[in-house]
Amino acid sequence: MKNASMKDELCVITGAAAGIGRAIAERFLEEGADLIIGDFDIDGANKLYGDNPKVLKILKVDATRTEDLDKLAEAAKETGRQIKAVLPIVGNGPTNMIPDITPEEFHLTMDLNVFSAFFTVQKLLPYMTEGSAIVLISSIAGFQGGEGALVYNAAKAAVRSMARSMAGELASRGIRANAISPGPTETKAFTEFVNDDDSVRSSIIANIPLGRIGRPSEIASVALFLASDESSFVTGAEVITDGGFTNR
Ligand SMILES: NC(=O)c1ccc[n+]([C@@H]2O[C@H](COP(=O)([O-])OP(=O)(O)OC[C@H]3O[C@@H](n4cnc5c(N)ncnc54)[C@H](O)[C@@H]3O)[C@@H](O)[C@H]2O)c1
Repeated sequence: MKNASMKDELCVITGAAAGIGRAIAERFLEEGADLIIGDFDIDGANKLYGDNPKVLKILKVDATRTEDLDKLAEAAKETGRQIKAVLPIVGNGPTNMIPDITPEEFHLTMDLNVFSAFFTVQKLLPYMTEGSAIVLISSIAGFQGGEGALVYNAAKAAVRSMARSMAGELASRGIRANAISPGPTETKAFTEFVNDDDSVRSSIIANIPLGRIGRPSEIASVALFLASDESSFVTGAEVITDGGFTNR
């Protein structure tokens, strides 16, 4: 990708110890970015990035706790540099049917997907300026009504909405905000979602025109585009990355 270079650009990624966040971090490192990483799984993150001089800081962060997000902001401040891109990737949530959803599950899902993405951006905003980008991770669930996932679906719809509101409010500062809506993507969370059951996996694949589950690296390519100046006139957009699943 011409001009997509992230060489020596400072980017902050949460949820980078596994799955989509890991693929994004690895791709950004390939492109020469400097990273600050926050993840609940500090051992996993240290194992992946501990020896990499381009990873400036690895922090144990629960993205649902503002005091932990303050640590990310402090790390960014210490660099004295502008943040090129903020990518709050953390998100998930238990599945349950409407009659059985508990208040605890409801709050947890909103915290993991909506609260965490919003406050990660808010805390890092002081270090963003003209040319910075925000990349949120929504999901095709955000515009679907799949059963057993009401709260997750609603949370991801809120994430799509936040990308638009951030784009609107921050445009005057030259900061862009966009969302990626992945379809089924091969990660640990997805394996858990299908209960590691090949027949469930096959029935999902049968509905994907490109005939397979997405790779985390394919979400990372879109994240790179949206985080870099290659997408300099793209803001308030949502890139559906689902192999055509929702195009049927
Ligand atoms: N995998 C899919 O099919 C899919 C589809 C659409 C959207 N998404 C979204 O993509 C994002 C990444 O999903 P994934 O499948 O790669 O997940 P994953 O479970 O494979 O990885 C999640 C990462 O986030 C970290 N994490 C979890 N909770 C955390 C917390 N509270 N604070 C800090 N770190 C935390 C984990 O340690 C791990 O490193 C999520 O927002 C998810 O909703 C995934």
